[in-house]
Amino acid sequence: MIKLSNIKYMKMLSILAILVGISLFFVTDFVTADEGEGLTKKLLPGVTNINKHTKILSKESIDKIAKAVGESVSADNGLTIYEVTTPKGNNGLITFTKVNAGDKDVTLGIAIIPPTQKDKVVSILSVRAFDGSGNEISDYRAFFSQFTVNESTFIYSPIGLLIPIDKLKETIKKATEDKDKGAKETIAVLKADNYMRMVSALWNLTNRGLRGDGKSIVGFANELTVVYDGLGKTSSEATFLDSTQMNEFKKFASTAKGDVERIVKLVNGGDIASAKDIAKNMRNNCDRCHNAFERTFSKKGREYRIAYGSYFYVGYDVIPVKGLSSDVMQNLATAIRKNVLIMLEAK
Ligand code: HEC
Repeated sequence: MIKLSNIKYMKMLSILAILVGISLFFVTDFVTADEGEGLTKKLLPGVTNINKHTKILSKESIDKIAKAVGESVSADNGLTIYEVTTPKGNNGLITFTKVNAGDKDVTLGIAIIPPTQKDKVVSILSVRAFDGSGNEISDYRAFFSQFTVNESTFIYSPIGLLIPIDKLKETIKKATEDKDKGAKETIAVLKADNYMRMVSALWNLTNRGLRGDGKSIVGFANELTVVYDGLGKTSSEATFLDSTQMNEFKKFASTAKGDVERIVKLVNGGDIASAKDIAKNMRNNCDRCHNAFERTFSKKGREYRIAYGSYFYVGYDVIPVKGLSSDVMQNLATAIRKNVLIMLEAK
């Protein structure tokens, strides 16, 4: 009796061990095999409750997205969408897509918070590019910073994201060929708004860098000078301003550019304390320009309805950065817009 039950006991133990082994094998295999899940954590550190779904797009959604982005949308290459809880506890969506980046393909990851009943806006939380081994390609960071502010939210309207890119292209054509006043002003507002997004993103990165030894800010700060330069130039297209206002606007932008250049010089010379002082005072410049001009621009933006579209078009509402080709930047920008829309439309 005792012997038998011992054997039974051992048999049960070994069956149990095999079962545990098998299930461990499956569990670990599932986790490691799911490369996407690992990438979600690199894309959005602190993400939890990652649930993978395969979703589809209706014919109507495919047409709508294709018209918005100006290229075909293929829905049969497996729409893998991750439903997640974001680090701040919101419901988020994440997707990955392969994008041609010149001589290579990169994996582009995009994390968003879709509109809720309360908030009818889309926030882009993070955009990152990864190589074939799942390592982030950091060269794209400055470029991506304009779509999201420093890993936090950047808000778009689903309606603005759906306005066909062809409308913008028509407006650009009118503005350049026919010198159409309304078209030029539309573009000026569109550019100013997006230069500000870039200012705000790079400004945050610069300030954060100044808390350390400051060395990390140089790249961002140099981009910021380029952005202020562009911002100043938009004033001549903003013909709803009179000439005094145009000059004042340009002056605010060039003062800001000069301040950033001084910050870079001081950081390179090791004088972080003085660099910080200048950064602190720069807020006044932001505020003074906003007091003088923000309302005028946003009123015009509402008037020229397409001015508040989000086209992700390089040179207009996407600011080019040094070191990346225009084609690569446009491929990345279009892929971001397209995949945000896919995440919103896929069921
Ligand atoms: C030369 C003038 C000027 C300066 C300098 C300036 N801004 Fe702006 N900013 C504007 C205008 C004009 C708008 C409104 C754009 C619109 O609504 O089309 C704006 C809007 C913004 C917005 C809202 C963007 C959006 O999508 O609604 C943010 C954020 C912003 N500015 C941040 C900053 C910060 C931070 C600084 C300083 C580091 C700064 N700005 C300096 C002119 C300026």
